[in-house]
Amino acid sequence: MTEQQLENLLQDMSLEEKIGQLLQLTGDFFAGEGLATGPMEQMQLSEEQVKLTGSILSTVGAKRLRSVQDSFQKSHPHHIPLLFMADVINGYRTVFPIPIAQGCAFSPELAKEMARISAKESARAGIHVTFSPMVDLVRDPRWGRVLESTGEDPYLNGLYAKAMVEGYQGKDFGEQDRVCACIKHFAAYGAPTGGREYNQVELSERSLYEEYLPAYQEGIQAGAGMVMTSFNTLGRIPCTGNAELMQGLLREKWGFDGVLISDWAAIRELIEHSIAEDEAQAAYLASKAGVDIDMVTNIYSNHLAKLVREKQVPEAWVDASVRRILTLKNKLGLFENPYKDADEVYDTMDEPEPAHRTFAREAIPETVVLLKNDDFLPLNKKKTKACSQVAFIGPYMEEQGVCGAWSLFYDPEENITLAKALAECDLEIAAPVAKGCSTLAPGQRLLGFQKPVVNEETMEQQAKYLEEAVRLAKESQKVILALGECNQMSGEGAARTEITIPEHQMELFRQVHAVNENVAVICFSGRPLDLREISAKAKAVLQVWFPGSEAGHGIMDVIFGDTSPSGRLAMSFPYNVGQVPVYYRELHTGRRATAQENRFCSRYIDAPNEPLYCFGYGLDYTTYAYEQLQLSKQQIKPQEELTVSVKVTNTGTRAGKEVVQLYLRDVTGSVARPVRQLVAFEKVALKAGETKQVSFTITYDMLKFYDSKMQYVAEPGKFEVYAGGDSRASLMEAFTLLSK
Ligand code: BGC
Repeated sequence: MTEQQLENLLQDMSLEEKIGQLLQLTGDFFAGEGLATGPMEQMQLSEEQVKLTGSILSTVGAKRLRSVQDSFQKSHPHHIPLLFMADVINGYRTVFPIPIAQGCAFSPELAKEMARISAKESARAGIHVTFSPMVDLVRDPRWGRVLESTGEDPYLNGLYAKAMVEGYQGKDFGEQDRVCACIKHFAAYGAPTGGREYNQVELSERSLYEEYLPAYQEGIQAGAGMVMTSFNTLGRIPCTGNAELMQGLLREKWGFDGVLISDWAAIRELIEHSIAEDEAQAAYLASKAGVDIDMVTNIYSNHLAKLVREKQVPEAWVDASVRRILTLKNKLGLFENPYKDADEVYDTMDEPEPAHRTFAREAIPETVVLLKNDDFLPLNKKKTKACSQVAFIGPYMEEQGVCGAWSLFYDPEENITLAKALAECDLEIAAPVAKGCSTLAPGQRLLGFQKPVVNEETMEQQAKYLEEAVRLAKESQKVILALGECNQMSGEGAARTEITIPEHQMELFRQVHAVNENVAVICFSGRPLDLREISAKAKAVLQVWFPGSEAGHGIMDVIFGDTSPSGRLAMSFPYNVGQVPVYYRELHTGRRATAQENRFCSRYIDAPNEPLYCFGYGLDYTTYAYEQLQLSKQQIKPQEELTVSVKVTNTGTRAGKEVVQLYLRDVTGSVARPVRQLVAFEKVALKAGETKQVSFTITYDMLKFYDSKMQYVAEPGKFEVYAGGDSRASLMEAFTLLSK
């Protein structure tokens, strides 16, 4: 459709029709042949209103969506097609490691490819828009949604935001097997006070601009077609009703001209937030903020028309929103082909595409982080006899729920468990396996994502599992213990104050350890956990997050050394929960803790300041050494750049991949500057004994920050550059930025 045709269509639509485009409903309104009355009554919407809906969320399947589209278009006065949206977060049918694990790969390219595959699988299932990527910066692991983020660092998050948008959309999301990406949750949703879900966000303006906003902006600059508002308040104003943020910053300053969608019922929540007196005022505020789509409430549908007729809301606001929505539909090509890529063959395919599974398997070693290894891993598969004396124990040996809480469309039966992968390992004598306990304690019930999760086992059953596990541990030379949070203990609505492995699993750990000290722990979780006890006692700890469909294969590839773990932490692991939030990019304090005895400095009296494992950290099966950090210049003028090079050597006996990290410290500024900030990295493959010189460019823009007047500038003075394998990197050189 040409722009003129689209404009003509808009002019021809009635006010009610236009407001219909702003409504998003779930698929249950369109169940079966016609419209379902139950949900309509519940939401107080009339049949006429539902027939004018603009988009549907969370319903998938080519056959289903084709038929919904058909009957919908037939009855729509202008035959405008529906948009279909869904949360395809870390894969559709083929599930990849959760986003926080993707962050740990330090490989935006890897995330881009995962997004490309997810786009293809979901586009074939009829989806046009995915509610991904979530680019919220996170520093508090109590918050359940850290699993959906790529971590604590603005620079890393920005690279991932861009890569994921490109992966989903390609050059043009109208092309085959591409979907439109949605940057969420705008803004600063990842910083709720106390880590408590849907809580207020209190940030300084400088921190917001320098740390929290850049990733959203990167995603938007990469061309994301949609942005989602966040539930939280920011500066005491709920984002969904914040005109300054949405119109002033997002649209005017950043030039975003795509569709802005509210988060789930967030327009109605303006009333709960106590900034709107009633539904009509909520509609007014959201509309003024330029929120185009009302996700699953009747607020726009039941109030906007009256507000327009009473001249409280200019019709031009509604027109602008409808124009953006129709433009999105047009860019997707829906006016010509309302099904886009929906392909019924995909619905009934027995197996997902093998290449997708292979990629999912190969991605896992890139995302897992080896936190500790006292010469324990990898196990040597060739020593088959020895392997028969390794016991594989734990609730995660047979667990299929390893995809993270936001994987909604996969078949758990298609997941490769650890036990299944172990059985495929071709060991001459099979290694023994025992459950030890379940992920949840006996009788424990969790409000799960879609339905409650319950462990109906009794204490007696649990005692039997434990007894069997301890017996096996006693008989074996080594134990691999697969533990972790239950899949549903992280994700939306899963804030925790005790970020530990559940107590009944710790009991298993303690009892196994009491009879056999040769224990390695494989840790599954959706957030950094307090791993103090495990880290002190276990011989090795491998953090695997939720690795997705190919979990068993990918992890066994690492355990048996077919490949090495090359993930590095994208989020610090706290020493204990009392330290939270703890992150590397903190500011200098006037009373820095020193090694000397001194009460009056910035520290705890009962715990270290440092996290248990810092940002950027991760071991490999080999070791690396850094030397000869060199700068091409000791001084630069404004707009100039300099080159940094460093030599990294694989000093061990196996090949591996190292993430060479470059940090910058602005020694003095008109406002306090972070102790250091990541400005570049490169993941390099090195054979045993091999040395590579890695070079980076430091540009003038990298030196910029928001100064005392909130101007984004670089201030003359001294800068230190650090290179190494994690955020504690100590190899340092300095240069000066001259004033002219
Ligand atoms: C979440 C969003 C999600 C939406 C639609 C909300 O509860 O916050 O991230 O995209 O639901 O499922």
